[in-house]
Amino acid sequence: MSLNFAAPSMDATPVYLTDAQSLKDVLQALPEPVQTWADAQQFKGAFGTSLLCPDAQGKPELALLGLGDERARRRQRFCLAAAAASLPSGIYKLENDFPFQNKHYEVLGWLLLGYSFDKYKSSKGKNIKLVAPDWVDVTRIEAMASAEALTRDLVNIPASDMGPDALADRAAQLSAEFGATFEVIVGEDLLQRDFPMIHAVGRASATAPRLIDIRHGTSGPKVVLVGKGVCFDTGGLNLKPGGSMGLMKKDMGGAANVLGLAKMIMALKLPVQLRVLIPAVENSVSSASFRPQDILTSRKGLSVEINNTDAEGRLVLADALSYADEEDPDLIISMATLTGAARVALGPDLAPFYASSDDIAAPLIKAGEASLDPVWRMPFWDPYETMIESQIADLDNAPSGGFAGSITAALFLRRFVSKPERFIHFDIYSWNPAAKPARSKGGIGQGLRAILTALPDILELK
Ligand code: BES
Ligand code: ZN
Ligand code: ZN
Repeated sequence: MSLNFAAPSMDATPVYLTDAQSLKDVLQALPEPVQTWADAQQFKGAFGTSLLCPDAQGKPELALLGLGDERARRRQRFCLAAAAASLPSGIYKLENDFPFQNKHYEVLGWLLLGYSFDKYKSSKGKNIKLVAPDWVDVTRIEAMASAEALTRDLVNIPASDMGPDALADRAAQLSAEFGATFEVIVGEDLLQRDFPMIHAVGRASATAPRLIDIRHGTSGPKVVLVGKGVCFDTGGLNLKPGGSMGLMKKDMGGAANVLGLAKMIMALKLPVQLRVLIPAVENSVSSASFRPQDILTSRKGLSVEINNTDAEGRLVLADALSYADEEDPDLIISMATLTGAARVALGPDLAPFYASSDDIAAPLIKAGEASLDPVWRMPFWDPYETMIESQIADLDNAPSGGFAGSITAALFLRRFVSKPERFIHFDIYSWNPAAKPARSKGGIGQGLRAILTALPDILELK
């Protein structure tokens, strides 16, 4: 599997981009047999279609790609990838322009066609390669594709091979690749170093809980990415029913996303002091499990009444957020598959995020639209603060009533940072339930390109 551009080659098949509107004009500029062939094949330039046109010897001379009409393009992202996916394996090069909303990210979509989760499969898929058009920033687009592939792999690999230990190994590998410093605090050391909630959530598993800590860069604003790394979420003693547990290998999606984001930031040398914190745990059932009605004292000192052991993500994140906060960073971003409520609210396509400042939210939304990575702002709704307060402790981890579950989880996290105006939180799903153009079924990055593109704006980088 390679998500790179093909080297320029004499053998590359020329590709002409068309849609319902432009088809006639595009064909007019091509040799007459191509027009005859396109007519005979009833090629209309519909969304997700392609037509290979043979020369007199029957060899492919060129390909037409159909990009559909505006309505179809509104309903699906990555129209270029959608059409290219229907081509046979081979090397292709773009011959004409098309008024894409953003051509760089359309080309990224083509590269992402190269992703498939085939680690456990003996047969591999197609290989449809593109020669980089001369207008493309190859380094940037390839870095985005490779980061997205990392995120997808981390989520897709099952918990049997992606427990807290394996996740830490992957993080160490990534650090080594970019000369970042890597530290991990494991098991009982978490208690010694004062991460009681990370330890409590993860202590029932045969694989010890741990806190991953990566640092990269020595100058520029301090940015900390905090990712939920629950490698499997059984729900704990408040065991999830089978149907709800089925997908819970993906509960480290936040970790997978922040590692993908970190990979892009490091590869593209963004001038920031980057730190990545990942509490990596398995929420398991054993006699060592934390229990409903336990009261935990967090690193920050706030006590938390456990009303549901399935609301574990906010607990491990809380300790990691306090730790991040102690160095007074310029920006903290948390990413987590935190609540079922977020999935219900926005579904798998749109990434819900929380930011109190318009100066942060606006660039994120704009960058998300431009980079085909849509994000949607949710409110830190202060009047719901009372819902996360307990009668017998400072906080309650699982408000009863079930109202506004994603908002109350975000409010809970916000209690652990001292500058809420410099805090962004993403409550993502990180899973694509059905294959779409450039978006394979399974683990998927959400908000990565939006954040990467908005960061210079948010941090006022020169
Ligand atoms: N990992 C889940 C959230 C989740 C569920 C994300 C399904 C995506 C899809 C999380 O740990 C959880 O179970 N949260 C509970 C919280 C509740 C008990 C307050 C939830 O959302 O139901
Ligand atoms: Zn849970
Ligand atoms: Zn969870």
